[in-house]
Amino acid sequence: MLLHIPALLTADEVREARTLLEGAQWEDGRRTAGHRAQGVKNNEQLNPDLPEAQKVSALIGDRLTRNPTFLAAALPRHILPPRFNRYAGEGHYGDHVDNAIHPVLGTNISVRTDVSMTIFLSEPEDYDGGELVIRDTFGEQRVKLPAGDAVLYPGSSLHRVTPVTRGERLASFLWAQSLVPQDHRRRMLYELDLSVQALGADHPDHEAVDSLTNLYHNLLREWSIT
Ligand code: NI
Repeated sequence: MLLHIPALLTADEVREARTLLEGAQWEDGRRTAGHRAQGVKNNEQLNPDLPEAQKVSALIGDRLTRNPTFLAAALPRHILPPRFNRYAGEGHYGDHVDNAIHPVLGTNISVRTDVSMTIFLSEPEDYDGGELVIRDTFGEQRVKLPAGDAVLYPGSSLHRVTPVTRGERLASFLWAQSLVPQDHRRRMLYELDLSVQALGADHPDHEAVDSLTNLYHNLLREWSIT
């Protein structure tokens, strides 16, 4: 499931994030690329330990845990701290898959990357190219969103970022382990959730609202891995 989450960050928050990130020391993205990704990765990224990265990361993390669309669609079990990348001057990231497992430094926890998210921090008119291209069962989806908006997509998908031929593309990205590892099951739960909410809004006293809510929770109980 590919899901657009509008206005995860407000315009003021985007401005603040951008000011902090632009003043930070960026490094070559190839440093953290896996063996196969190294040949196709051409961007810059921030060391997550930098105070600027930590500050913006905490802000995004906080907004995610309050965003009902993200919570309902991702059903997060663990959310890895958001990271940052920057593409300019033909910078791109060719087709690749993200690592399935991310160890959390300083802990004995490993996080399975069931869902991926990109949060756009540059306005689309400020750069050319820089589309996130995600391949799923419906073919290629090309994503380029207003600053502050996010896209959620399955961690299992092959994806790339097309070359930025003008301006600069600043973004945040993150992975989360879901309570429900399978994308198709998350999608069904999300659609059921939305339908029950819509029914409840129009017919709050209809008894089907309770039975469908019960069904939702029973499916979640059946499919979740905690
Ligand atoms: Ni990736």
